[in-house]
Amino acid sequence: MGILEDKDNARLFYRYFSRIYDTVNPYIWDDRMRNRALEWFDADRDDRVLDVGAGTGFATEGLLNHVDEVYALDQSRGQFEQAFRKFGKRGKVRFHMGDAERLPFEDDSFDRLWSSGSIEYWPNPVEALREFRRVTRPGGTVLVVGPDYPKLGVFQALADAIMLFYDAEEAEEMFRAAGFEDTTHYIQQRHRGTPRAITSVATVPDDDRGAVGDAVDATETTEKPVAGDD
Ligand SMILES: C[S@@+](CC[C@H](N)C(=O)[O-])C[C@H]1O[C@@H](n2cnc3c(N)ncnc32)[C@H](O)[C@@H]1O
Repeated sequence: MGILEDKDNARLFYRYFSRIYDTVNPYIWDDRMRNRALEWFDADRDDRVLDVGAGTGFATEGLLNHVDEVYALDQSRGQFEQAFRKFGKRGKVRFHMGDAERLPFEDDSFDRLWSSGSIEYWPNPVEALREFRRVTRPGGTVLVVGPDYPKLGVFQALADAIMLFYDAEEAEEMFRAAGFEDTTHYIQQRHRGTPRAITSVATVPDDDRGAVGDAVDATETTEKPVAGDD
């Protein structure tokens, strides 16, 4: 497990990193990649949407181009302080301090749930995905963006030491373990040589909550080639 796959370490890291996050972030996860993911998310204006690990609000800002209001959850006050400057504390964004693995919301509270660039910090990502499934209504959409596993051995060792990196096969395993049956995985990249993002888009199955983690029928997994815009 990587050093940042620990909630206290991640919180400490973002206490400082939050000050430069918006400067560094566009080199890895930029507007174009986010906007493409927003197309896959396909939200309707009146959808109730939760953004988990919302941070400084980079994705929240994009979501607000599609929906009227966003619920934002994060465990870092430093990150939210930056977001408050953009959106105000009370407005179209409803802020909740909390943990991705224990969401402070009732079952079926949301039509869609978005989480970009946060899964790599969670010690128990399957627990969080189960929570996503719980708080999103059946038929709703869950979209998760994380870092794709590097192809080169030297980068793999470094990646493993820091946080969770995973490929489409592992993403599929995590989503299935959390009870999702219908998930599509996309690979995006800013340009050649920059880190790749893996975006998983899942539909919450009809209510069979007792069966979370049970084996499910085989489903098709689509891994798009590294083109970034298909
Ligand atoms: C790389 S930032 C992503 C910010 C934003 N979603 C974006 O697309 O730019 C990761 C965020 O996940 C948050 N985070 C990490 N672990 C978390 C957890 N267990 N629960 C809630 N938020 C968490 C961090 O505090 C940080 O703000």
